[in-house]
Amino acid sequence: MANVPRDSKRLLTIEDLDVENRRVFVRVDFNVPLKGSEIRDDTRIRASLPTIKALLQRGARLILASHLGRPDGDYDPKYSMEPVGARLAELLGVEVRLPDEVIGDGVTKLVLDTRAGQIVLLENLRFHPGETRNDPEFARALAILCDAYVNDAFGASHRAHASIVGLPRLVRERAAGMLLNAEVAALGRVVAAAEHPFVAIVGGAKVSDKLPVLLAVIERLTAGDRLLIGGAMANTFLAAEGLEVGGSLHEPDRFGDCRTILAKARARDVRLLLPSDLRVGHGIKATSGRVVAVNEASLSADEMALDIGPHTEQRFAAAIKDAAIVFWNGPMGLFESPAFAQGTMAMAAAVAACPGYTVVGGGDSVAAVQTSGVAEQISHISTGGGASLEMIEGQVLPGVAVLTEEG
Ligand code: 3PG
Repeated sequence: MANVPRDSKRLLTIEDLDVENRRVFVRVDFNVPLKGSEIRDDTRIRASLPTIKALLQRGARLILASHLGRPDGDYDPKYSMEPVGARLAELLGVEVRLPDEVIGDGVTKLVLDTRAGQIVLLENLRFHPGETRNDPEFARALAILCDAYVNDAFGASHRAHASIVGLPRLVRERAAGMLLNAEVAALGRVVAAAEHPFVAIVGGAKVSDKLPVLLAVIERLTAGDRLLIGGAMANTFLAAEGLEVGGSLHEPDRFGDCRTILAKARARDVRLLLPSDLRVGHGIKATSGRVVAVNEASLSADEMALDIGPHTEQRFAAAIKDAAIVFWNGPMGLFESPAFAQGTMAMAAAVAACPGYTVVGGGDSVAAVQTSGVAEQISHISTGGGASLEMIEGQVLPGVAVLTEEG
């Protein structure tokens, strides 16, 4: 490695590695949604192309590896990397060689035969039970394949698995790929919360799923910042404030947590915005709904709040407009149903129109910015679900920490 000191503040990049004619193991997150063997969304494959192309151009011999689904340590043809390899070859215009195992003699031979500018994509790492257990034997078997290690798998970097933590500890020359660096920088800017007004938009089904995120975010906000809460989790806040939410999803055992967050917001002079109107329907199979004002509290027992209403969309959009920085995670309603997608789509438009620095994470909110055609106007779209939330909570991801350790 070019004599670059490792320090705890800077992640080494691929520029810091000597890669020419060397076997470089790149951990990618190609955990893409599949329908049979068809890839429904190749965003994660595309997101690592800059790292892969840069290494190929510099004459690396590439070993790519990822998990796909949760096959639980056993071979399962449903989760083979084959369709992923085919898609990658198509995107790169380069042959991708796919051994039928994760480790073993066949793999070692293929890797040793790989020349500069060529690619081997290992079979699904989770076909081996050692991956999720961070088994040292498995990590060693991967380590002997390579001269250098690159982590570009931001979406999996919250997992202390063998390819994320055990393996890099065994390889002295290790660095973060371009995607991992970009993700850490973007989410790091959100965590730093040094720009104001800061607007956090949090949605999704349950308060309990996002409680650590809500608590971490509220601690970082100051007077004039805004926390917008939508989705079914808003029902728990409304019910905690004494409103009748009918048959809506809500968590009475979280009323105390909601009140704590509301009190913290008041104490910090942060504007916490909850829905003022809702689109409600008869159960989650409803194909149409009606709008009710929250203060009318007129949901019947069989009605559920399934989206924020038009007045709420306007209030939320107005709160986003002049933000210096926006972080959005989680849909505003039952986004998969066209009758209740409007609130989420309205947030996508409002975030896209904001001239500040905007970061979107989480499957449904990312899908909303993509289907509404505004992805280009978002400063950073995170490829990580759980990983981005753990970063926002203020945790150091194990896959990132290991890259700055002395070794
Ligand atoms: C994700 O999809 O969030 C990552 O690929 C991690 O997958 P996992 O939750 O199965 O570890």
